Amino acid sequence: MSAAKTVVKDGEALAQTAAERFVNLAQDAIKDNGRFSVALSGGSTPQRLHKLLTQAPLKDKVEWSKVHIFFGDERFLPPDDPDSNYYMAQETLLENVPIPDEQVHPFITEGISPETAAEHYAQDIKTFFGDATPSFDLIFLGIGPDGHTASLFPGFPQVTNPPDTLVAPVFDAPKVPPTRLTLTLKVLNAAKNVLFLVGGNSKAEAVAKIFNGDASLPAALVQPEDRLEWLLDEAAAKNLS
Ligand code: 6PG
Repeated sequence: MSAAKTVVKDGEALAQTAAERFVNLAQDAIKDNGRFSVALSGGSTPQRLHKLLTQAPLKDKVEWSKVHIFFGDERFLPPDDPDSNYYMAQETLLENVPIPDEQVHPFITEGISPETAAEHYAQDIKTFFGDATPSFDLIFLGIGPDGHTASLFPGFPQVTNPPDTLVAPVFDAPKVPPTRLTLTLKVLNAAKNVLFLVGGNSKAEAVAKIFNGDASLPAALVQPEDRLEWLLDEAAAKNLS
């Protein structure tokens, strides 16, 4: 594994740099394999990144008909709930780029249990990748101030005793809403490229702990065989030596 750290000035530079990474990785994957599979992260950090991808010049550099969108995690809410990661991605990116609907893979979060929803999503991933180990071309991740990533929270069973499954339901999460679905460490660590996008003072303590190897923070356990990059703004990187 090669882990890279890139520090940029502020949130806008963070979004711009991440959007350029998306474009470059998409172009490479589509050239090499005819498609680009990416898992988006939730929360607020990715929103500016998404919007930049819907605007020239970056929008025109992506062959959207060859892009396949998945989600690193999801809140167990209806898809039209403003707190849904799918809803956020629809609003900030997916409604504004020409990706075929069948190439967007939301979690099912209505009419079934979280456990069944996790099984369904794992099957969706297996169908897309075939028998091969699911290895996304790119997985975007954020972190919380507690060092969680996706919906993998400190001390939770998905972290302390990582399952062999691809997707896990999460209950009583400390970040509302409490019921969630998440890709497991197995999937995160099988990705070709993992890109953490971290901005703001509130993340600085967690970032320093992670870079000091504090394995109690879930984000520190994301160590893909291939390429890992931490994209930080100066505020989030301020406690790094
Ligand atoms: C979620 C996210 C979560 C997020 C971090 C950072 O569903 O909440 O997937 O892991 O990436 O909590 O969130 P912010 O970008 O809002 O700080």
